[in-house]
Parts: sequence; structure tokens; C-alpha cells
Amino acid sequence: MAEPASLKVSVWRGDAFQRYEVPAGTNQTVLDVVTHIQREIDPSLAYRFACRVGMCGSCAMTVNGRARWTCRTHVKRVVGEDGALELRPLANLPVIRDLAADLTPFFEKWQRARGTFQPKDAAEGAVPEDFAVVPPASKARREADAGIECIGCGVCYASCDVVAWNSDYLGPAAMNRAWTLVNDVRDGGRAERLDAVAGDAGCHSCHSTQSCTERCPKNLDPSSAIAGLKRTLFWDTLLGRR
Ligand code: SF4
Ligand code: SF4
Ligand code: FES
Repeated sequence: MAEPASLKVSVWRGDAFQRYEVPAGTNQTVLDVVTHIQREIDPSLAYRFACRVGMCGSCAMTVNGRARWTCRTHVKRVVGEDGALELRPLANLPVIRDLAADLTPFFEKWQRARGTFQPKDAAEGAVPEDFAVVPPASKARREADAGIECIGCGVCYASCDVVAWNSDYLGPAAMNRAWTLVNDVRDGGRAERLDAVAGDAGCHSCHSTQSCTERCPKNLDPSSAIAGLKRTLFWDTLLGRR
């Protein structure tokens, strides 16, 4: 495919799209494009980034209709032959300004899903003197490790139709975190955590569409984590553990 000499970039500015022309470059990322606009054309443009290397998750935006990390998305992967790029803030979240979404509701749901490690045999919020060691090769460790690399970027949350329909729904990342802790043999908050994800806004509302899993840039599998929560609730109820 012939590469365009310049990009026609439509950027959401709160009430309408503003159009900018940006020179196309080799190995250019979408974050490079946004940075060019802000530094060379329009310093009033608001957006967010930090690491530029796929570690912090703060640069996520909607790029041509799909949530992505902009620092790890090369323009040539997403742009059409006409050089058109459309940039919006992440979906399903309030907007602070322009391309910067407010992740407060996203992290409030981690709290609601009891996404904080609760050491066994310690009062809530207390720090134990030492932690048990779980050998890296053990089954328990592998199960807990499956979802632990989440960096809270919000891509899965912005991609979830159930969040779009029901703003109360806990969403994939919060429940992926809950499942990680349910599998952590050092954690003592299992019962409260399962209660937290069992309600109407919890795992049973997931439609298993798997958009979260398909789009997670860390290749995590929140959809399977939610299925694990459903399964655990089912067996706990059947066996009278709840
Ligand atoms: S699998 Fe569930 S949580 Fe993931 S995107 Fe679909 S509905 Fe949302
Ligand atoms: S599960 Fe993946 S997409 Fe969702 S917040 Fe974590 S890293 Fe981002
Ligand atoms: S700027 Fe940190 S992941 Fe993109």
C-alpha cells in the first residue's frame, strides 16, 4: 500500500472534531502524531502520556474507532490510504479535556470489586511482618500470575459494550483483578471479594463477547477471569460455602 505523504488527523476537541495536517514519518506512532500537533501546531491540545514504551498505560485513546495504546500503535497499522486518522478520548469514561479521559470511575470499580490485597491473618489495611513465599512454578502461583500484569490502562473497559449500556457494571479490569486475588493463596479477602463481584453489576452481567481479551495490549484474558469468577460462585453456592 502506498504510504501517504501527510496525515489528515481529526481530533476530538470536546464539542467537535478539529482537523490537522501532519507530515507522515517512518516508524511514526500515533502518540508521535498527537505530540506533533501539540508542540508544532496547537499547544492548547490536551492529552496524556508518560513512559512512551508501553509500560504505564496512560496514553490510551480511541484511534479510528478502537481503543489502543497510542505509543505502541504505529500509524501505518491503522491509517488508510487516504492518510485519515480519527482520535477520540477513551470511550465509557468522562472526559477531562480533548483526548484526556478521567479514569476515576474505572479505579473506583477496582475498589468496589475489592481489588486490594488483604493479607491472611491480618486486620484489613494492616501490613504483616512478612509474606508467605509462593514458589514461581507452583500451580497456585501460575493461576495468580495469569492476570497480574494489568497496568490499568482502561483499554478493555473502553471496549466493553456492557459498560457502555450499564455504567454501574464493574467491567473487565476490576474483575480481572478480583480473580487474581481470589487465586492468590496469601489473600484472606476471598469471601468479601466474591460477594462484591456477585451482584447485578458484577460477573453475571458479562456477555462473554471477549472484546476485552481481544484488545488488551498486555495479552491478558479478563473474559476468562470473569468466567472463573462465575464458576467459583456457582461451586461455592452449590457446596454451601456461601
Ligand atoms: S467479555 Fe464481558 S467484560 Fe469483556 S468486553 Fe465482553 S462483556 Fe465486557
Ligand atoms: S486488562 Fe489489559 S486492557 Fe484492561 S486495563 Fe489491564 S492491561 Fe489494560
Ligand atoms: S505512554 Fe506509557 S504506555 Fe503509552
